[in-house]
Amino acid sequence: MRAWSRACLERGETIVLIPTMGALHEGHLALVERGRKTAQRVIVSVFVNPTQFGPGEDFEAYPRTLEHDTEVLSRQGMTDVVFAPSVDQVYPNVQNLTWVTVDRMGDLLCGASRPGHFKGVTTVVSRLFNITRPDYAVFGMKDAQQFFILRRMTQELGLGTELVGVETVREDDGLALSSRNRYLNVAQREQAPRLFQALQSAREQVLAGERDGGKLIEEMESNLSGATEGRIDYLEIVDTTELQPVSQLESGAEIVVAGAAYFGSARLIDNVVIRVP
Ligand code: PAJ
Repeated sequence: MRAWSRACLERGETIVLIPTMGALHEGHLALVERGRKTAQRVIVSVFVNPTQFGPGEDFEAYPRTLEHDTEVLSRQGMTDVVFAPSVDQVYPNVQNLTWVTVDRMGDLLCGASRPGHFKGVTTVVSRLFNITRPDYAVFGMKDAQQFFILRRMTQELGLGTELVGVETVREDDGLALSSRNRYLNVAQREQAPRLFQALQSAREQVLAGERDGGKLIEEMESNLSGATEGRIDYLEIVDTTELQPVSQLESGAEIVVAGAAYFGSARLIDNVVIRVP
């Protein structure tokens, strides 16, 4: 992988990396499509990263479908290389001691119920950047917290990779595509779009002039608690620079309205990014 990237860079070609954990769906393919338009060489990494899963999370059960993934990518015809390293290639020691962490930004939202998760993400993405040397890397805004943390990391470490964010790809009823949607039963699947609906109605209220963060969150909560399926993990409004809670929305500020809810065993997340008018 290193030799291939070095040869591309020596020829003056630009490289884009799309990091994934596989089980590819249309959301991932939209990132690849953006990658193709962004740089001359496209690398898609497929690696289920053990260090970003907590104890009791779905690391063992996470779908591993490499054959299907490479087939889907080759049918799409926009990827030059699928990089699918093994765990011991990415982590040469059983006990990994070297970590990349971003203070504070990983403590809230998903970080609150998944302690250590973002430390695993920033560490593996730095490692993947080191191996593939990309000029650009494409991420989905579905994982907005991940995107903003990685953007901060890349900037503060001076990695020289430019991050590109792609709008969330959704089902017709608004449910964000996710590898975890396959865990949903029929009743849960039917109720799952309510998470996005709650976020959307908060967006509409902000655009209509609501500036009280607490009130917006309360409304989203009552909105979602009416669902027959789904248990709220969090609903929050934070700024996009440090991901800290915003109680009073200021004109011109960029905010993320983010939520996570359990539908059965599946923990689904979603968010909307809003520029306050
Ligand atoms: P994974 O969950 O496989 O997601 C890979 C990329 O696809 C992420 O950037 C994610 O935001 C994006 N993505 C997922 N669903 C999407 C959708 N419906 N619309 C648009 N983009 C979507 O995120 C990870 O893997 C890992 O944390 C990783 C960055 C690979 C590090 O291990």
